[in-house]
Amino acid sequence: MDVCVIGAGYVGLTTSTVLANYGHRVSCVEKQKEKVEMLKKGELPIYEPGLEKMLVSSIEAGNLDFTDDLAKAVRKSLIIFIAVGTPQNSDGTANLRFFDEVINELSPLIDTYKIIITKSTVPLGTNEDLHLKLIEKGVPQTNFDVVSNPEFLREGTAISDMLHPDKVVIGVRNHTAIQTLQKLYHFIDAPYIITNLTGAEMIKYASNAFLAVKISFINELAKISDAYNVDITDVALGIGMDPRIGHHFLQAGLGYGGSCFPKDLAALEHQSMKKNVTPHLLQAAQMINNSLIDDYLAKIEKEIPAYRNMKITVWGASFKPNTDDTRHSQALKLIERLTEEGCNIHVFDPVVFPKVKNTTAYKDMYESIQQADLLIVATEWRQFIEADWAIVKEKMKGNILVDCRNCIQPYTLKRNGLKYIGVARP
Ligand code: UDX
Repeated sequence: MDVCVIGAGYVGLTTSTVLANYGHRVSCVEKQKEKVEMLKKGELPIYEPGLEKMLVSSIEAGNLDFTDDLAKAVRKSLIIFIAVGTPQNSDGTANLRFFDEVINELSPLIDTYKIIITKSTVPLGTNEDLHLKLIEKGVPQTNFDVVSNPEFLREGTAISDMLHPDKVVIGVRNHTAIQTLQKLYHFIDAPYIITNLTGAEMIKYASNAFLAVKISFINELAKISDAYNVDITDVALGIGMDPRIGHHFLQAGLGYGGSCFPKDLAALEHQSMKKNVTPHLLQAAQMINNSLIDDYLAKIEKEIPAYRNMKITVWGASFKPNTDDTRHSQALKLIERLTEEGCNIHVFDPVVFPKVKNTTAYKDMYESIQQADLLIVATEWRQFIEADWAIVKEKMKGNILVDCRNCIQPYTLKRNGLKYIGVARP
């Protein structure tokens, strides 16, 4: 099929590349000319394992092209994906500027039947509005179907998440487009959840909100467990055995960050308040998450009162492993807070070279801990979990490791003469 994907961010690039890899002819439209040129050469502007290789082979196979010419890409395509960013306004609401821009540019181009699929996470009712707007702008109703098909991919595992989703969520006004979508996704073996347009939007928000609430739940229990000398990893293991709870998203630590959870929770809270429903649980989840950096600073102060005068190395800057994304990164927030307190901070991350004022960033993991008094692990990259602790001990001046992600085995450290401070791990 001929497919146009508007937006070359995480979702747009993964969608374009995977669809092209499975035989569709994809034109990915991006406004930034430099980005288009880079992508045409097979260079990715983001770090996403496996994506560049697939992108290059799809370009070489002639199935994937990048362009800034929206009209040309739309005219030749039956399927139009909207995958532009919906960032957060300062009041927490979703900013639909890019989405609205696309609709304005798209409407005069729809002169034959098109299926317009929204991948972007948009506020409840946006796709219904999109349908009405297109009619208002004079597009005949027989020329299009709007579909809401939210994306659930995670950064770091984007390709595999798109190839093997647990479900495909399709929001529609009528069933006309469903068969075409099943042909488009012929390579996906997953149940289809068919609902109305707003239902699909809600499934996306509900999914991210539930996961964020789960993380805040375990982080709250970590605070209580810590006060009672209980190991939170035992608690997570114990409750996770119950299939109604499950093991996923029960890792206590610095809390959630990234481009989705913080933004989507705030947006859902606003949409709820707009209808006079106070979302107590969503508010609590955000409050807990926002309190974690202060909590860890207090914990560090309690355990190591002289930390402000120490040479501190922080391992990790991205919001989670296997990505170079630092949006809403709790690791970066911790680094910034420590710097504001006047600490002497040194940072290493396997893919991010953070430019935080008054900190020194390193390209080598072990060089970053030279003569350090204290090592803080803020993102659970595999390199850190599998570090050679004998080398760490030898390079550091001090012997304390603060594991803000509970990702390191305390006894491996002890064996190497290092002192371990985890999150609620007595
Ligand atoms: C998330 C959703 O998982 C995905 O379905 C959606 O499409 C986009 O948002 P992503 O933001 O890439 O994906 O990251 P995810 O792996 O979900 O982690 C989000 C944050 O939660 C990270 O900061 C991570 O460190 C944190 N987290 C996750 C925890 O603190 N504890 C956990 O147990 C799990």
